[in-house]
Amino acid sequence: MNARVVDLKVLGVPQAPLVALESGRNVPFEIERVYYLFGTAAGKSRGFHAHKKLQQLIICVRGSCRVLLQDGKEEMEVFLNKPNKALYLSAMIWREIHDLSQDCVLVVLADQYYDEHDYIRDHERFLEMAERRAKD
Ligand code: TYD
Repeated sequence: MNARVVDLKVLGVPQAPLVALESGRNVPFEIERVYYLFGTAAGKSRGFHAHKKLQQLIICVRGSCRVLLQDGKEEMEVFLNKPNKALYLSAMIWREIHDLSQDCVLVVLADQYYDEHDYIRDHERFLEMAERRAKD
């Protein structure tokens, strides 16, 4: 699966840590958009989609959550609970975000502007498209 956890270097002194994100350095693409997910109601999961072209880097800067990933062949589960741990996702990966803590804040870096046409929100359609791409 073209998804991986990336350890981000913590800069500064232990009493005042920070993480810097730079296109083409520790972020493996040119950043076009940044957004954040927060204030998720208890018991509510998020995501449930894949992207046709978009690449993303997801960082849980506060709280924790569990991310389920599928590429049509493999499944993977990642627990995000540290501001220095990032999850890189290539295109064509179905993601579901579960068990978000009340204080969970996810910062997402993306290599394209928002485009609803890039979303695959139907899981059956995603599996069909993933299978077709695997054959090409
Ligand atoms: P969505 O991707 O469905 O978020 P989640 O599954 O994490 O809750 O997006 C929710 C809404 O926000 C949807 O109407 C699209 C809109 N949106 C934008 O307008 N711009 C963006 O950059 C993003 C990510 C979403």
